[in-house]
Amino acid sequence: MFKWWQRGVLYEIYPRSFQDSNGDGIGDLRGIVDRLDYCASLGVDALWIAPLYPSPMVDFGYDVADHTAIDPVFGTFEDFEALIAGAKARGLRVVLDYVPNHTSDRHPWFEESRASRTSVRRDWYIWHDPAPDGGPPNNWLSQFGGSAWTFDERTGQYYYHAFLEAQPDLNWRNPDVQRAMHDVLRFWMRRGVDGFRVDALWLLIKDDRFRDNPPHPAYRLGEEPPHHSQIPLYTADRPEVHDVIAELRRVVDEFDDRVLIGEIYLPIERLIAYYGADLEGVHLPFNFQLLQTQWHARSIADLIHRYERALPPGGWPNWVLGNHDVSRIATRVGPLQARVAAMLLLTLRGTPTLYYGDELGMSNVEIPRARARDPFEKNVPGLGVGRDPARTPMQWDASERAGFTSGEPWLPVAPDSSVLNVQVESEEPTSMLALYRALLKVRRAQPALSIGRYEPLAMQGDLVAFLRCYENERVLVVLNLGGDPHALSLAGIARSGRLLVSTHMDCNDIAATSDVSLRADEGVIVKLDS
Ligand code: GLC
Repeated sequence: MFKWWQRGVLYEIYPRSFQDSNGDGIGDLRGIVDRLDYCASLGVDALWIAPLYPSPMVDFGYDVADHTAIDPVFGTFEDFEALIAGAKARGLRVVLDYVPNHTSDRHPWFEESRASRTSVRRDWYIWHDPAPDGGPPNNWLSQFGGSAWTFDERTGQYYYHAFLEAQPDLNWRNPDVQRAMHDVLRFWMRRGVDGFRVDALWLLIKDDRFRDNPPHPAYRLGEEPPHHSQIPLYTADRPEVHDVIAELRRVVDEFDDRVLIGEIYLPIERLIAYYGADLEGVHLPFNFQLLQTQWHARSIADLIHRYERALPPGGWPNWVLGNHDVSRIATRVGPLQARVAAMLLLTLRGTPTLYYGDELGMSNVEIPRARARDPFEKNVPGLGVGRDPARTPMQWDASERAGFTSGEPWLPVAPDSSVLNVQVESEEPTSMLALYRALLKVRRAQPALSIGRYEPLAMQGDLVAFLRCYENERVLVVLNLGGDPHALSLAGIARSGRLLVSTHMDCNDIAATSDVSLRADEGVIVKLDS
């Protein structure tokens, strides 16, 4: 009765950075195909691949110029078919990125739309007359800096873009846009895709009265990107978005066993609305809370509690520790706690998403200014908003370019790649990779960890502890988020247990006594005797 996407683990591949097969320094589909054995041996269930579509690459594929083709830099349709076949042969699912909020300004739809005010596609995008002073129609800001409106000389109107000027927003109030974009979903599902991660889902609908966004009272000028100076009341999370999502879901439900995942940066109480009334929204509204919460035991325990409590009946939870838009977990919490974080991610109730390279302990890589590629960094420099540091090449081996490419990599390879890489870590029993493999294996072996109930245990200080229970099986997870050792008595929980995995990877699979002792920065999974 549980779906594959409930039991399974997602693995995000940023295709430019995973494996290059043709020496141009940019990862591609053949590269991913060549590394499918690795993905399967890691123990994940589904690959989510960031956009592969033809694109001017101003936002590295999130500026789509054709939703139903493959960009030559990534390969051909044959390569795509080889990926689907290779994945299926290994029991792996493939989830594609679907980018509905905007297109590239080079998309033929936008070229037609901007050609004249009477174009049949004029209303496919969001056009507005200038304000009386000739300026933008209102105060809406782009997430990548500056006004969200760009003036089009030829037709004398402004068009709206939540992100770059080169990414005009589609008008989802237009039924023709909806139909065309629904067909995109069908196109890929017919070609064997198991589902979609929907980009910028909470932004699809904007206020139809174009009201100004209110200022954000807590904005810290010079410390945060400019768009944080407003509360996005009229540009995000609009009530009508849920009707649009229900339609997307209906299309996805025309096919068996597919998953719809939404990129939604909202607080828990808003996020859960995206499951939809009667669960006809997305299956998994991405839960990004671990990306934003302070790494303190009490905040984490409280977060899990609030999330579990807020979920609608039947709404399946999910957790994300990293993605291509945020700092890597090893940089956010340090290398020791990154191990504890891995255990947390893979033992919480709900579908986990891993970000490529986190399983090696990869950190953010400092990018010299001259090599910066991310348009966010270029438009809003000096605040550390750039996403290049978390998008550097996957580290396969100790060679100069980490086995990623024979050419010049599009972003620098990390300086630690000679020690942190798949080849070296596969030989090292206590490596981060060994830990991830052990965690994924134990999660698969113990249904309690994937589909079991979640029961928190009251803790203090630096400890987070909970039980996962399925039928007669109970698994205890205890995490030490601090630098001092702690002991936890099993009295009142169980007579004894067996230590399955420690994040230190030096004492797995041993009988635990009546106490669980934790070293600094250690997490353990204990199978309790009944
Ligand atoms: C999403 C993507 C991000 C991209 C943006 C605009 O947030 O994850 O990488 O820049 O949408 O498409």
